[in-house]
Amino acid sequence: MEIINHAIVGCGRIAPNHVDGFTRIDNVKITYAVDKDIEVAKAFAERFDIENYTSDYQKVLSDPSVHSISLNVPHDLHGVMAQQAAEANKHVLLEKPFVIDPKEGEKLVQTARERGVTVMPIVQHHYDLLLIKIKEMIDSGAMGTISMLRGHLECNRPPSYYSESEWRGSLQREGGSVLINQAYHILDLMVWLSGPVQNVTAHQHTTNREVMETEDVFTASLKFKNRALASLSVCGAGGSSWRNMIEIISDQGVIGFDISHPNQLLRFELKSKREMKLWRKQFAEIIEAVQPSSAGTDYYGISHRPQTKAFIDAIRGTIDVKEDQQHALHIVHTIDALYTSSRQQKNRDVQEITINSESYATT
Ligand SMILES: NC(=O)c1ccc[n+]([C@@H]2O[C@H](COP(=O)([O-])OP(=O)(O)OC[C@H]3O[C@@H](n4cnc5c(N)ncnc54)[C@H](O)[C@@H]3O)[C@@H](O)[C@H]2O)c1
Repeated sequence: MEIINHAIVGCGRIAPNHVDGFTRIDNVKITYAVDKDIEVAKAFAERFDIENYTSDYQKVLSDPSVHSISLNVPHDLHGVMAQQAAEANKHVLLEKPFVIDPKEGEKLVQTARERGVTVMPIVQHHYDLLLIKIKEMIDSGAMGTISMLRGHLECNRPPSYYSESEWRGSLQREGGSVLINQAYHILDLMVWLSGPVQNVTAHQHTTNREVMETEDVFTASLKFKNRALASLSVCGAGGSSWRNMIEIISDQGVIGFDISHPNQLLRFELKSKREMKLWRKQFAEIIEAVQPSSAGTDYYGISHRPQTKAFIDAIRGTIDVKEDQQHALHIVHTIDALYTSSRQQKNRDVQEITINSESYATT
């Protein structure tokens, strides 16, 4: 099997999780550490025994020995740097948020499909075994009709988190804060489990005005296309430690979980005793087996491992990423609608994706 040579672009907080994932896959070699700060690239290369380091992204794009890259850079660079990589025929594993601007995202996906390169959005929680099982239960119909969802996240980001970063807290560079950054996975999973969002009403607030122009408190009401209603509440300026939960309430029961703790359910009830017993047993098998430890920052979890593997499978042509791309584009449109709603103080429809999932053509 041909070796895939991979470059890590952006060697900051999340980058070790990518190294941890790719080094576990046969016939994949990390050949470059790339960071605009050459000292950061050098230190990263030394730490993980990577043979080349550079601050010159274009050099990596023009090197024919490089097949793929992980893009772990500030949000405003996702669209432009991924676009450059796709145009250079490199496969891209792109950290969340997929992009800030929906137009950039659609252009990127279009280019990837035309060039035949894999551009895969990071959504590592889609690979959490407990969440896969929850999705399987919902898709089986055991939960009946979903009527309501609740998504909540609270964490404490100190002023230094913004003041010491060149991009966090900047509207142009981060594109927003607590919603698009910390709560991205919460929104993403609500949509993954319940389907697309139709329209939204949102509010935002900034408490740490001295260090950020983006929001650190965000609340929203969402209406899904399946008519379910949802509330989303996120706060990055809480005095409490990191905590999150998603609850899904249906006519047949309720399930609640916390994405930082893939080894527990917060709530689970089904009206049908038979279904309850069946699914509880399957959840228990996963919960008892999960070993929650991380290669990088602890709350990032270990699910970059299966996601990096899926990326390599996609490059090798054994899985398809079109649905992942459509999903990511819908999330980008939903976040865009949420921010627009909160700024205009108006209810907003989520825009439709203009690229369809089956072809390259725009509709
Ligand atoms: N999936 C997850 O759970 C998860 C967790 C944390 C961060 N992230 C995402 O990963 C991305 C990076 O976040 P982070 O926390 O690692 O940020 P960070 O600031 O710690 O690291 C970003 C790195 O990119 C480098 N960089 C900036 N501009 C560059 C350029 N033009 N070329 C090359 N390198 C450049 C910086 O020097 C820095 O070392 C963000 O999109 C973030 O939202 C995802």
